[in-house]
Amino acid sequence: MSSEIINGPKTLLSIEGVDLWFGGTHALDDVTFDVRRGEVFGIIGPNGAGKSSLLNCVNGYYKPKSGRILFKDRDLTSVRPHQVARLGVGRTFQNIELSPEATVIGNVMLGRHLKIRSNAFTEMLHLPGAARQERTSREYCEGILDLLGLGEFRDHPVSDLPYGRQKLVELARALVTEPDLLLLDEPTAGMTGEERADVGRQLRKISASTDVTLVLIEHDTGFIRGITDRVAVLDFGKLIALGTPDEVLENPRVVEAYLGASGNLVETLMESLSD
Ligand SMILES: Nc1ncnc2c1ncn2[C@@H]1O[C@H](COP(=O)(O)OP(=O)(O)O)[C@@H](O)[C@H]1O
Ligand SMILES: [Mg+2]
Repeated sequence: MSSEIINGPKTLLSIEGVDLWFGGTHALDDVTFDVRRGEVFGIIGPNGAGKSSLLNCVNGYYKPKSGRILFKDRDLTSVRPHQVARLGVGRTFQNIELSPEATVIGNVMLGRHLKIRSNAFTEMLHLPGAARQERTSREYCEGILDLLGLGEFRDHPVSDLPYGRQKLVELARALVTEPDLLLLDEPTAGMTGEERADVGRQLRKISASTDVTLVLIEHDTGFIRGITDRVAVLDFGKLIALGTPDEVLENPRVVEAYLGASGNLVETLMESLSD
């Protein structure tokens, strides 16, 4: 059955028996699942379930006590964060981390430069001049900004933009590094319903028009249903469900996990109704 999928050509990322502790807290408890190339994969679960910790393990910020994380068949568990990024894993965070006084294009170009610097030696050998490289780089960044509907704000300081658009700038900055896998920790946190729907549309567009694989943590069930191909549910560090959004959101164990977290399900349902 699933044996042909595990580490097969379709698999980009395999989480295998990952265990992580913080003192007496079992943050991740024997978590196992695969993410396939090109899919939009959601991770949901109550607060404190271990969702961000799992992304931090993939990124190399946290080192699991045991288990393996295979990305393109290479184990990431002992690889440092900057090296994980070079291997093709991009990341955005729950809180915006941009230079607010710099322009939109300035912030995005910074992301691009980080990628270019990692290739500096080869570029030195093969590319004509720094000016040409800068121009190509700028054109690439402008293309991504246009794709995300941010073209007209290119020369505005980031701090002039509403919160939702700032989150999109962060997304653009991650995309210009051309990751194979992009990890998004609550890309719609703190947004209005309208901004959230906009981010959903942009993410779907990115998934359709590039080869990037998206793994995103999200609370809004409407968003999850609308955008993801498959979803993993964590509760107290354990994987309690895996499947399509409809399968997972109707799973009694999942409903119970949310109810256990002080009425979270009600809040989540209210949020998706208000969209
Ligand atoms: N750096 C850390 N130090 C100590 N405990 C942590 C740390 N990061 C996360 N935890 C704990 O691990 C558990 C999972 O946290 P987290 O991964 O942030 O959950 P989620 O993102 O699902 O809300 C929580 O109990 C949290 O308090
Ligand atoms: Mg979190």
